[in-house]
Amino acid sequence: MNVAVRAAVRKALHHNMEVYGVFHGFAGLIQGEISPLDTNSVADIIHRGGTILRTARSEEFKTAAGRHKALRQLARWGIEGLLVIGGDGSFRGARELAASGITTIGVPATIDNDLYGSDYTIGFDTAVNTAIEAINKIRDTAASHERTYVVEVMGRRSGQIALWAGLAGGAESILIPEIEFDLERVCERIVRGFKGGKLHSIIVVAEGAARGEEIGFYIQEHTGLETRVTVLGHIQRGGSPTAFDRVLSSQMAAYAVDLLREGKTGLGVVIQEGRLRTMGLEEILSGKKALDVDLYQLADILAM
Ligand code: F6P
Repeated sequence: MNVAVRAAVRKALHHNMEVYGVFHGFAGLIQGEISPLDTNSVADIIHRGGTILRTARSEEFKTAAGRHKALRQLARWGIEGLLVIGGDGSFRGARELAASGITTIGVPATIDNDLYGSDYTIGFDTAVNTAIEAINKIRDTAASHERTYVVEVMGRRSGQIALWAGLAGGAESILIPEIEFDLERVCERIVRGFKGGKLHSIIVVAEGAARGEEIGFYIQEHTGLETRVTVLGHIQRGGSPTAFDRVLSSQMAAYAVDLLREGKTGLGVVIQEGRLRTMGLEEILSGKKALDVDLYQLADILAM
């Protein structure tokens, strides 16, 4: 997100626009936590995870009274256009602001990569790489001890991180909310693998599919094999962004600034087949991203 903030600020300054940062998301907007941003305010953040603008969940913004306060702050500060960087909650807020007449553009940023319309969202690649790094390390100890490991990754409603990390990490099975799974089959595969000479098994589970602990318990009970569970948790939400994420964030945020300059509103920036495009916030929010079933099947075939 920091990379997107940096790109938005510098692209806007390049066009002689005045730039303000809203701190703590919609909660801060309601409170008027707004300050001017210059080129130095975004210096030295390109390699840092998180966001210098901080963030917060805001229940108040979901109410008409809360949004009214936010609109008053925007008017008070003379803000003519707003970039909203975030996932579906942020996009819902952006849609409300656009409907109230504020020129608003959404920039998709969520590690879950679950926003409809965009092949990738900012943060996903970094989270997947963090998960793979962890799986690589777990693999070392799994092989040494000849154990089964269950690795729980994030994804409350989405199996995207699990699918990518599972495929790239060479997992034996990937359990995700989008596809029904059969734990007996998972256990059979583990046992078959060990009998066939595999030194270990790694099962990747998305938090939205099941709790890693439950899966680990089931596997140990049904196979008799020593099983350990690792929950990666919030380490997936931090860390230095990958090159892919940095380029994507820079491009998306810069494009969003161009859209604001053109007076466009109610749109989200998306990337499809490598090209930046726009899609209505309404369409993004009402769509459901389809899982790449081919990728899932490929992971299944390669796990053997
Ligand atoms: O929505 C993104 C996400 O990373 C989910 O995958 C995860 O369940 C959730 O955020 C964690 O949210 P919190 O930090 O509030 O626990």
